[in-house]
Amino acid sequence: MCGIVGYTGPRPVLPLLIGGLRKLEYRGYDSAGVALQTGVELVVAKAVGRLSCLEERVAGIPGDGFLAGMGHTRWATHGRPSDINAHPHGDCRGRFAVAHNGIIENYRSLRERLRGSGHHFSSETDTEVIPHLIEEAYRGDLASAVRSVAGLLRGSFALVAMAASEPGLLVAVRKDSPLIVGLGDGENFLASDIPAILEYTKSCYILDDGELVVADQRCVEVQDLTGRVRHKPVFQVPWDVAVAERGGYPHFMLKEIHEQPQAVRETLRDRIKEGELALDEFGLDGDAARALRRLHLVGCGTAYHACLVGKYLIEKLARLAVEVDLASEFRYRDPMVETGSLLVAVSQSGETADTLAALREGKRQGARTVAISNVMGSSITREAGSVFYTRAGLEQAVASTKAYVTQLVALMLLAVDLGAKRGTVPEAERAELIEAIQKLPELAEEVLKLAPAIDNLARQVAQWEDAFFIGRGLDYAVALEGQLKLKEISYIHAEAYAAGELKHGTLALIVERIPVIALATQPPVLDKMISNITEVRARGGRIIAVCSNEEELAPYADDLILLPACHPLLMPVLAVMPLQLLAYYAAVHLGCDVDKPRNLAKSVTVE
Ligand code: F6R
Repeated sequence: MCGIVGYTGPRPVLPLLIGGLRKLEYRGYDSAGVALQTGVELVVAKAVGRLSCLEERVAGIPGDGFLAGMGHTRWATHGRPSDINAHPHGDCRGRFAVAHNGIIENYRSLRERLRGSGHHFSSETDTEVIPHLIEEAYRGDLASAVRSVAGLLRGSFALVAMAASEPGLLVAVRKDSPLIVGLGDGENFLASDIPAILEYTKSCYILDDGELVVADQRCVEVQDLTGRVRHKPVFQVPWDVAVAERGGYPHFMLKEIHEQPQAVRETLRDRIKEGELALDEFGLDGDAARALRRLHLVGCGTAYHACLVGKYLIEKLARLAVEVDLASEFRYRDPMVETGSLLVAVSQSGETADTLAALREGKRQGARTVAISNVMGSSITREAGSVFYTRAGLEQAVASTKAYVTQLVALMLLAVDLGAKRGTVPEAERAELIEAIQKLPELAEEVLKLAPAIDNLARQVAQWEDAFFIGRGLDYAVALEGQLKLKEISYIHAEAYAAGELKHGTLALIVERIPVIALATQPPVLDKMISNITEVRARGGRIIAVCSNEEELAPYADDLILLPACHPLLMPVLAVMPLQLLAYYAAVHLGCDVDKPRNLAKSVTVE
């Protein structure tokens, strides 16, 4: 969500900024802009739409001859997507430029006050107050001005500022929105995420909240908001440019779907040793596991769907009460979190504002906290008591796939571990589950071989206006994820229901040829599921069944997606993959922008 790139150094600044923004496109945006510093003045260009629109707009500007610059991709929050509302924003006389990610919650009162003292605003954004505040505070030192302005702002921000009168200088500050500093030799970078700078350096500082950076081409200084210098460890990025590219696939999403077996393998590496779980990362020894009375799982969107699977598994295997909350609801419902309970925050990016706030609420109420995240050094991982890293690798498509399955694996491991430590999973069952978990990567490879058949099926799906997904138990949680994937990238209206719920209302919508994707992978409820499928068929609904039992389901299905046999509790990992592929191919057949669906952002750093 919004992207920032800043550069100071000898390279041609304009192409570097545009290239960096391109690497951040996956975060989601609706307009883009750059500000370039000549040493005397600031040149600003902005355009609504894709980066190609900005490229057209800057076609007449030479790439080099600038000392520093900043680029921004905007995902609209305050003010519609437009040229004027795109960042960077300036003050009254064009002496300062600011690019900002986040939301300034008190912008209305600040704007009123600034207007009262004669400032003119040209955009509808919250951000524009910042350059005007800098204009007011500036006494020849940009760092001091930004420091004092940061003290006036409420909300979340990662912002970069430049002054026309301080050649080659970038000043940035962070609160609740990610920002990194790339360290080069005779050049330095700022960015909201690593891919933007990876081509140039793998050494960076990951800024903490309340840190301000003063950077020119020779030196980078990190300070706190009182101006005291902070000495930070240099973070070495463990992956390279090739990992961040599409590797021959037409879209990141398809690449990431096919990376799932490897992502699961990596997530399991060293966590199962000679048939035993080695899960110190959850920070729970036997006594702590036995003492637990309640566990909270929080996440948003796809991560929330992973939490629903986690609830089912943990309650079943560890006989521990689990509450699952949408992180965006958690702190507003006055939740009861007993001291000593465990709160697990699940977040691919580790930056989701709502999940971070839920984690903080859990901590405030005395819970132990664990993060399950895919991004090292992200905000949620830094604030949680313990961290379990999924090792899905960089996920760039907005629609989460490989991160989701690794979240499932993390929660499966946690459930088995808790069950073993609490004595609720007999030894033989534990060994059977661990063996089955280790087979998941191979089974996932088998499932992905269905891709061509699913591509065929997706041609029909692309004609649909509506789709229903049904399932029971774990299959219901997977149905929810399947419908989210379909609607977010193909824009086909989709809904998921617990199969037994249909007859309590939604069956009214099932008429001739209405497509229903029925997940039927759970033997204990297979008969019930078949009854629900027949209810749909009796009203003319068209069934696509996802199952591992051809004999039982074939008589009831118009189409069958057959999964390999697997332990039923682990089925969600396999069952979701055909649904991801179905959504992907349907979106491709409809000509949708698969990796960057409309209105969505990869990392949702605002509430
Ligand atoms: C959907 C999707 C989102 C995210 C959600 C939480 O495909 O990716 O629903 O799961 O925005 O993001 P993280 O996991 O980064 O907290």
